[in-house]
Amino acid sequence: MTARQIILDCDPGHDDAVAILFAAGHPGVDLVGITTVAGNQTLDRTTHNACVVCSVGGIEVPVHAGAARPLLRPLRTAAEIHGESGLDGPAPIEPAVAPRAGHAVDWIIDTVLAAPGDVSLVAVGPLTNLAMALRREPAVAEAVREVVIMGGSYTRGNTTPAAEFNILVDPEAASIVFEAPWPVTMVGLDVTHQALCTPEVQRGFAEMGTPAGDFIDGLMRFFRGNYAGVTGMADPPVHDPCAVAVLADPDTVEVVPATVQVETSGAFTSGMTVVDFKAPAGSRHRVATGLDAPRFWAAVHAAVAALPAPLS
Ligand code: RIB
Ligand code: CA
Repeated sequence: MTARQIILDCDPGHDDAVAILFAAGHPGVDLVGITTVAGNQTLDRTTHNACVVCSVGGIEVPVHAGAARPLLRPLRTAAEIHGESGLDGPAPIEPAVAPRAGHAVDWIIDTVLAAPGDVSLVAVGPLTNLAMALRREPAVAEAVREVVIMGGSYTRGNTTPAAEFNILVDPEAASIVFEAPWPVTMVGLDVTHQALCTPEVQRGFAEMGTPAGDFIDGLMRFFRGNYAGVTGMADPPVHDPCAVAVLADPDTVEVVPATVQVETSGAFTSGMTVVDFKAPAGSRHRVATGLDAPRFWAAVHAAVAALPAPLS
């Protein structure tokens, strides 16, 4: 099977970090580059963190910084989950790489248009960069192979009763992304809450004996404590690599046709993803409904273990 070319748009973020390492180490993925967006933390921090993760994972791909705030709304971050750095837990690491010059949105457009039909976008933060790319160059909707996002839910939210964090930070951007004429798969909380970093899963990283495994172990120790304190969940859901798995190993994630609309004006429901499973035939939207968790974690462990030595 030919590896799937992906651009990973993210807001590292503990689970974003696992998604980056998973994508870089999985044989089914050709990680073309990383773009960053403000979300879990401010853009300077999420971009710094992406460079830290690339350094730890020996990942030599371009990193471009994108939007520093949502299209219309003020930025909200998630320090209560990810800490002040956005990647609290492991001892601070000075990255061996720096972000490239140029805005992420321009790099996404140029990269996608240079290889029509080849590159997919996997977005695991607020969707501001993808919305800006669509507005700046609508042709990207035709040139992108497909879009997979971690975000939303067809049951309930995690930041408000109705809204998941990535969608809530920038509902207008999410609405633009779902309304655009490109195929979008939504991997929401309904599935990512099955991707729990149990003590056994965490031991798989801790006992790996590699810098990347040790790094993830340190991240998960912090993530576990904060997630339990904020949500009461005994084991933290590692949301973002689930979106990568849709392309890396499609049999890991069950998806079904649906239509997705985003509420942008509800007093209590702003940021809600309204999912209709009575989708017309040929719907360009799909929604994830199931996860083979043992297969997923086996693939994540194998990918992280396969990573090269850290960059220096
Ligand atoms: O709601 C979970 C999502 O919000 C994840 O992508 C997490 O990293 C945060 O961005
Ligand atoms: Ca994220």
